[in-house]
Parts: sequence; C-alpha cells; structure tokens
Amino acid sequence: MFASNNYLGLAGDRRLIDAAIAATEMYGTGSTGSRLVTGHLALHDELETAIADLKGTEAALVFSSGYLANLGTIAAIVGQRDLILGDEYNHSCLKKGGLLSGAMAINYQHLDMADLTAKLQQHRVKYRRCLIATDSVFSMDGDLAPLREIMDLANQYDCMVLVDEAHGTGVFGDRGGGLTNALGIQQDLIQVGTLSKALGSLGGYVAGSAKLIDFLRNRAATWIYTTGLSPADTGAAIAAIKIVKSALNRRQQLWQNVAEIAQGLQELRIEAIALDSPIIALKVGDIATTMQMAKHLYDNGIFAPAIRPPTVPTARIRITLMATHTAGQIQKLLQALANRDRLV
Ligand SMILES: Cc1ncc(COP(=O)(O)O)c(C=O)c1O
Repeated sequence: MFASNNYLGLAGDRRLIDAAIAATEMYGTGSTGSRLVTGHLALHDELETAIADLKGTEAALVFSSGYLANLGTIAAIVGQRDLILGDEYNHSCLKKGGLLSGAMAINYQHLDMADLTAKLQQHRVKYRRCLIATDSVFSMDGDLAPLREIMDLANQYDCMVLVDEAHGTGVFGDRGGGLTNALGIQQDLIQVGTLSKALGSLGGYVAGSAKLIDFLRNRAATWIYTTGLSPADTGAAIAAIKIVKSALNRRQQLWQNVAEIAQGLQELRIEAIALDSPIIALKVGDIATTMQMAKHLYDNGIFAPAIRPPTVPTARIRITLMATHTAGQIQKLLQALANRDRLV
C-alpha cells in the first residue's frame, strides 16, 4: 500500500482501537446532536485542549471532517466585501470555502510569491479584509508552501492567513505539530487540519486564538448545524495526539523511508515533483504511460494509483510513505519501478 494517508501507521494501532472502544462503552456510538444542544461531550473538550497544545495555540475546535472545518471557517471569516488569495493548487475544500463565503477569490500561481505580491498590490486596497489561504503540504504534489514568506506578506498587507496542515500534522515538527510548528512560526494564524491522516481517526479541526475559536462557535455553520464528532473518533484522536507528541521514532522512520525512496529514485533516474514530504509524485510520462505504470505496479502487488487531469495539471504516479513500511516493501516498490521497461 503506497497510497494511504496513514503516515504514522496509527489507524491500526491497538492504543487507538482501545481508546475508540473505551469511548464507545462510556458514551455510546453517537453524540446525538449538535455540540450546542445535546452533542457536547467532555471528550470533545479534552481533544480540543490536546490539539491546541499540539499546535501551540490558545484554543481549537473540532469539526466532523477537515473538509467541513475549511468550508465553515472560510465562510465565517470572510464575506462579500473581502478578498481571498489562494494557491492555485489548494485543496478543494479551501476553494469551495471561498465560493461559499461570497468573497472575491483569486488564485496565485503555485508557490509563486512574486505573483502573490503582485496580486496583493493590485487588489488588496479594494477590499475590507483579505485572507491568504494555502495548504502547508500540497496533497497531490508533495511540495511545501513558503510559509515564512507568506506570513511576511500577510503582515505587510494586513491579511489573515489560513494554513491547511492536513498532510503536515504528525509528520513535521519535533512533536508533530505540523510545518508551521517546524518553521517556528509564532504569529497569529489560522491552522486547519484533519484527524484522518497521520492521526488515524476521523474529523477535522481549527486551531488559533481564543477569539477566533469563540467566533467560529457562533458563526461556522458547518460546526453549529451538524452532529458532534462521534465518541469513538474523538477517543481515538485523543490517543493519537498523545502518541504523536512523543512518537519521535515513528517520525524518524517515516523520514528515513522518504530518504530511501529518494535515493532509489535517483538511481533509477525517475524524476519526482518534490522530495520534501511523504507524498512523492513521480513523473513517468503522459497520461497513457502513467496509466500503464499504475497497472504495472498493481500487477506487481503495489497500490500506487495514477492521478490525472483534471484533478492535477499533469499525470503522475502519486506514492505516499508510511512509518510502518518495511525495508522489504520499499525495495519491492523500487524493484517494480526498475522493471518499468517491461511495460506493454
Ligand atoms: C489538503 C487537504 N485538506 C483537507 C482535506 C479533507 O480532510 P478530511 O478528509 O478530514 O475531510 C484533505 C483530504 O482529505 C486534504 O488533502
């Protein structure tokens, strides 16, 4: 399996399974209502405190998914008189959040700070508030947003910043706090993410100032008008965060696996879009060749699908690494890639 978001291998971890069972035994299978009515559990408070601690923020709020966290947050903090500047490769939920908000949403070229600066110069003064929105780790390319430069521009042009750490949390930073934490960014920003990737559970979150979180509790429709996160998902996520904070060995193993693949690819002369994260997008040719390669890998016991336009601009084999991949499994992938000449 070289396509899973289970970066630290926690989705099958006994401690998460036990925590989900214990939470279910204690609270039942459903949270039974909106957090503002019957759906609020002490477990939710515990999880939100743990997320705020992991992220180094004053507060956090959990949503039913990362998708809903982004939709609800963006639509709550900007409106028709405001501007959103987003990386053109941002995840769907950042883009749809922009649409839902009614704000003017303009894309800047992928990772291109000169283009972001030009767009700020051209458009910023015409709008009341401005939100710069970006993924920290891009889900289909595996490259990283220049977060320090984005923060500097945001200060210069008086903008808010929303960073989606869906693929950064658990993977970057000494305690797994994400790319923002790894870069030591202390400024006020809105960190969004998911509980469903490195954290092995289900749900999403927003972490930021106490004022922001209080505002979202009153304004984020995707939090107010939906059922609270289930006890099992909440319990599993609490257990995951405890592990992630001290899971130095797992993170080291994950990065060692990234390094091994990077070296193997270099020897095989296979180019990747980036080698900066556990998401590695291999450039193997046009759409037809990429499809053949995915089939070749599958026939060799490896699941690493082709990702094609219109999801992405160019076809690629997207592989993701996990801390739990063995040296043998990595060799098997490299061997299958080495045999690519036998493609029909
Ligand atoms: C960058 C990014 N943001 C948000 C999400 C959505 O998170 P969730 O699966 O919790 O809805 C995903 C993928 O699922 C993602 O890749």
